[in-house]
Amino acid sequence: MKKIAVASVLTISVIMFSAFVQNPKEASIKRGKEVYDNNCMSCHQENGEGIEGSFPPLAKSDYFQKDPKKIITVILKGLNEEIKVNGKTYNMMMPEQSYLSDEEIADVTNYVANSWGNKSKAIFTPAQVKAARK
Ligand code: HEC
Repeated sequence: MKKIAVASVLTISVIMFSAFVQNPKEASIKRGKEVYDNNCMSCHQENGEGIEGSFPPLAKSDYFQKDPKKIITVILKGLNEEIKVNGKTYNMMMPEQSYLSDEEIADVTNYVANSWGNKSKAIFTPAQVKAARK
């Protein structure tokens, strides 16, 4: 009986400990999905595939692959110029969304930079977004 009690206490501590040290990047990506679904999906589509000729893809986009920080700039300042994404030309207007909080922008950037085949070693932080607002 005592053994079982000790074992349960141990198990509970392990579970609580792992929840505590949950990878901050994974947690941010998870929050970012919600920001994406509410603020980006209507144009860039559910799986970041975009709509050819109108909304460029975010999935495996070569536009920000080398420098995912660009995602932050595009969200803060919008984009209204001719761009090439994965060999296709786009020339529409993306409105800026600087009303999103620093944390929301960091989270959605981590989500986009690590979804649908995208991978980024960097982890984006609210402090970085704050600095980019200037
Ligand atoms: C109203 C539609 C719309 C919404 C909402 C929108 N975008 Fe865009 N986005 C565009 C358009 C259009 C472009 C291309 C702009 C151009 O041609 O200059 C673009 C371009 C981009 C690019 C650069 C090009 C690429 O494909 O890599 C990124 C990154 C991006 N958007 C991310 C986002 C994120 C993240 C959100 C949500 C926070 C978002 N967008 C919300 C329409 C939208």
